Amino acid sequence: MTGAAGGVGTLLRPRLAREGRVLRLLDLVPIEAGPGEEALAADLTDPDAMAKAVDGVDAILHLGGHSVERPWQQILDANINGTYVVLEAARRAGVRHVVLASSNHAVGFQPRTDEVPDYLFPRPDTYYGVSKVAKEALGSLYHDRYGMAVTCLRIGSCFERPRDARMLSTWLSPDDCARLVEAAIAAEGFHVVWGVSANTRRWWSLDEGRAIGFEPRDDAEAYAAEVLGDDEPDLSALPHSHVGGRFCEPRYDADNL
Ligand code: NAI
Repeated sequence: MTGAAGGVGTLLRPRLAREGRVLRLLDLVPIEAGPGEEALAADLTDPDAMAKAVDGVDAILHLGGHSVERPWQQILDANINGTYVVLEAARRAGVRHVVLASSNHAVGFQPRTDEVPDYLFPRPDTYYGVSKVAKEALGSLYHDRYGMAVTCLRIGSCFERPRDARMLSTWLSPDDCARLVEAAIAAEGFHVVWGVSANTRRWWSLDEGRAIGFEPRDDAEAYAAEVLGDDEPDLSALPHSHVGGRFCEPRYDADNL
């Protein structure tokens, strides 16, 4: 697991623990390994470090990199080149299954429709979103050219609980995230699936997720009263009008960072 010290990695560690499974955790930030874990402090853009990190693993969950908008060079280095380094290390080591953390921001400028389908053509809302499109493209290449099983997760909002009105639609609960990762790790072929829970206000497809065996059980609606109070959101305006929410606003232009 790359980026294992981050928010999603921290939520997943206890949920992916299994008898007989060893989780090898990599991050720039040192991690204290628990039972059934190994920890490596390394930069995922370093080919030698990645070669050691993937030696002997059955599957890679690639979460590491910038998880919000950053200047172009940083996105290029960590997210785009970093994904190449991870996939190339996987290929050389003969790792068969790779799961890539993509994002809704790969298609962020897609306007709201009743149900946004799977495999939506790229419509990134930021350089960060562009890096997720590149990540999916690299995954596709390594599948077609080298036969690697690659599943890209267009994650919505993976946090302990939904934090705002948008997340009532886009929330991926930590337990559902673990279910999705288990399904993705086992999947053959190449897939792009939405990472979203069974939210009452969901507007992104679960068809391809279900096709690989992901059955979400959680619904953000349980938090609606707490999140909304008496205010129902205006779905025709940002952050609700487009897949990427606030990332579509002018203040997310990298020049304004
Ligand atoms: P995060 O920012 O909390 O964690 C990312 C981790 O990657 C950090 O621990 C960081 O130290 C590590 N990292 C960054 N550059 C690195 C490098 N060069 N070498 C090694 N490690 C490096 O992000 P979070 O929220 O855990 O997200 C995980 C993945 O899921 C990211 O790829 C993010 O883009 C994606 N995602 C997350 C969403 C969410 O709701 N949390 C939504 C959509 C996508």
